[in-house]
Amino acid sequence: MCGIVAAVAQRNITPILLEGLKRLEYRGYDSCGIALYVDGHLQRSRSTARVTDLQAQISQAGLEGFTGVAHTRWATHGAPVTSNAHPHFSGERIALVHNGIIENHEELRAQLIEAGFHFESQTDTEVIAHLINHLYAGDLFEAVQQATQKLRGAYAIAVFCRDEPHRVVGARLGSPLIVGAGKSENFLASDAMALAGTTDQIVYLEDGDVVDIQLHRFWIVDARGKSVEREVHTVIAHSGAAELGPYRHYMQKEIFEQPRAVADTLEGVEAITPELFGDGAYKVFSKIDSLLILACGTSYYAGLTAKYWIESIARIPVSVEIASEYRYRESVPNPNTLVVTISQSGETADTLAALKHARSLGMTHSLTICNVSTSAMMRECELAYVTRAGVEIGVASTKAFTTQLVGLFLLALVLGQVKARISEAEQAVQLRALRHLPAAISAVLALEPQIIAWAEQFARKEHALFLGRGMHYPIALEGALKLKEISYIHAEAYPAGELKHGPLALVTEAMPVVTVAPNDALLEKLKSNMQEVRARGGQLYVVADGDSHIAASEGLHVLRLPEHYGWLSPILHTIPLQLLAYHTALAKGTDVDKPRNLAKSVTVE
Ligand code: M6R
Repeated sequence: MCGIVAAVAQRNITPILLEGLKRLEYRGYDSCGIALYVDGHLQRSRSTARVTDLQAQISQAGLEGFTGVAHTRWATHGAPVTSNAHPHFSGERIALVHNGIIENHEELRAQLIEAGFHFESQTDTEVIAHLINHLYAGDLFEAVQQATQKLRGAYAIAVFCRDEPHRVVGARLGSPLIVGAGKSENFLASDAMALAGTTDQIVYLEDGDVVDIQLHRFWIVDARGKSVEREVHTVIAHSGAAELGPYRHYMQKEIFEQPRAVADTLEGVEAITPELFGDGAYKVFSKIDSLLILACGTSYYAGLTAKYWIESIARIPVSVEIASEYRYRESVPNPNTLVVTISQSGETADTLAALKHARSLGMTHSLTICNVSTSAMMRECELAYVTRAGVEIGVASTKAFTTQLVGLFLLALVLGQVKARISEAEQAVQLRALRHLPAAISAVLALEPQIIAWAEQFARKEHALFLGRGMHYPIALEGALKLKEISYIHAEAYPAGELKHGPLALVTEAMPVVTVAPNDALLEKLKSNMQEVRARGGQLYVVADGDSHIAASEGLHVLRLPEHYGWLSPILHTIPLQLLAYHTALAKGTDVDKPRNLAKSVTVE
C-alpha cells in the first residue's frame, strides 16, 4: 500500500529516496514518484511502472536535489495513471505526498475551485496540496497546522515549499509516519524500513502531530499545538528486499521457510509461562474472563482457529471479530476482556482502529500477536508475542499465518495454565509437539509433487469449494482465500455440515471440492459430507492424514499427511493448501507475489 519517504540534507537525496521506495515496494503499489527542489524550482518524475523505471527516468533527466519527497501509491481515489500519482503540486510552490483517505475531499475541492485553484488529478490528495498553498503566508509549518484542522479522515503527509528549500513538514492522523534523525540531515517515512541503511534513529509520531524537519533539527507539536519531545528509538529495521535465493517467487520461498520460521518463533520458549507474553502478563491473564480477537484477512482466520484452542484448553469464552466490522457495530463491552489483535504487519488500519474502539469502550487489557516488532500495533498493546516469521514479501500471507498459530497455541496453553485447566503433564506433551512442528512441516512440504499434479487440474477450473469441520474449518477458509487471491479462481469455504443447507446446489462434475480431513473426532461426519459431494458428481481433493482411512477412487483424490498431529493439525493442513494455491497460480501465469488490486500492508480503511 502507499509509502512515503522524504528528506532534507546537504547531499543529493535522490538515491536515498529511491532506495526508500524500493524498500517499501513489497507493500504493493501501482504508481510511484519523486519531487525535488532544484535551483529554485519544484521538479518531479512519476511512473505507473516499477521503481526501477522511475529510477531510469530520473537518471536520464539528471534529477538531483537536497530536499524532496517520494511516494508509492496504491490507488483509492482515481485510477492508477500518472496524473494521479504522487507527489502532487499546487502551482509552482507546494509539493506533497499523502497516505490515507481524506473523507471531506469533495467539499474542500469545491471550496478550493471557488478560490481559483485548478485540479489536475482525481485524487483526494491534491486537495491537501492546494489547501496548504491557499493557507500559506510565508511559513509552511503554520500552513500545514492550519490545513490539518480542516481535514477529516486519515493522513500521513510530507510536504515542501519552493520558498523554504531546507524544510519538509509532515503530519499524521490515523496513518503511520516516523522521523529518521541523521547528522545534519533529517528524514520522514511511513515505515522505519524505508530508512534502513540511512539512519537507525527513529521517532514515532503520534496521531495529531505536526513535524518540521530541517537540516540541524526537527521539531514536533502535538494535536493541541504544544511543542513535544518524543523518544528517539534505535531501530534495526530489516531490509524489505530479502534475497529470493533459489526460489522463483517470494511466496514459494516463504512457504518453504516455514520450518525455520516456526523454529525461530519458538526460540526461547523453554516452558509454558505467562511471561512469554510480556511482564505483567500473569496479572492480566488472572483477571480476565473472556477474549475478543480482532483481525483482518488471514490473521482473522488465525483468530478463528485460536477460538477452538482457547475455549477447549483454557475454557475461556472467545469472540473473534473482523476488525473493519467491529469498529462500526454496537457491541456489549466487558471490561474483563483481553483484547487480542493479530497482524502480520502491525500497521493494518482497520485492526488498529478496532483496537482503539475496544479501548474506548473500557476494555483496557490488550495483547498483540504480531510479526513486526517496530510496528504501531506493538506500541499500542500492553502485551505482545512477536512471531519471528521474518520479513514477508509475498502479498499472500503464508509463514506469517503459521507462526501466528504457534503464538496463539502458546496463548491457549498459558491461559489454560493460569486458569488451572490443563495439567503440567499435558503442557509438557504439547510443548514437545510444538518443538517437533518444524520437522512435521518439512515432511508435509515433501508432498509438493502430488500437489503440483492437483494444481494442473485446478488451473482449468473457474470455481472451487473448500470444506472443513471444527478447528479445520478456518483452514478451509484460509485455503479458499489463498486460491482466490493469487490464482483469481472463485473459491468459497464452508463448514462441511453446512453443505446440504445451500452450497450443495453448486456441486457438479465441474466443481472441485477440497476437503480438509484429518483423523479427528469429526472424521466420520466429514466422510458423510464427502459422500454428498460424490453423489452429485463433484470431484473431491482430500487432504487426509496417514491414518484417516480414506481410499482414493474415481473422482476422489487423496493426499496423505504423515500422521494426525492433534491440536496442532490445523498448522500442518494449511501447508498443502498454500502449495495448491501457489502452483495453480503458477500454472495460470498470474503475478504470484503481487496479485492484481491487492497490497501487502493495508494502511487505509
Ligand atoms: O498485516 P495483517 O496481518 O494485519 O494483514 C491482514 C490482511 O490484510 C492480510 O492477512 C491479507 O488478507 C493477506 N493478503 C492474506 O493473504
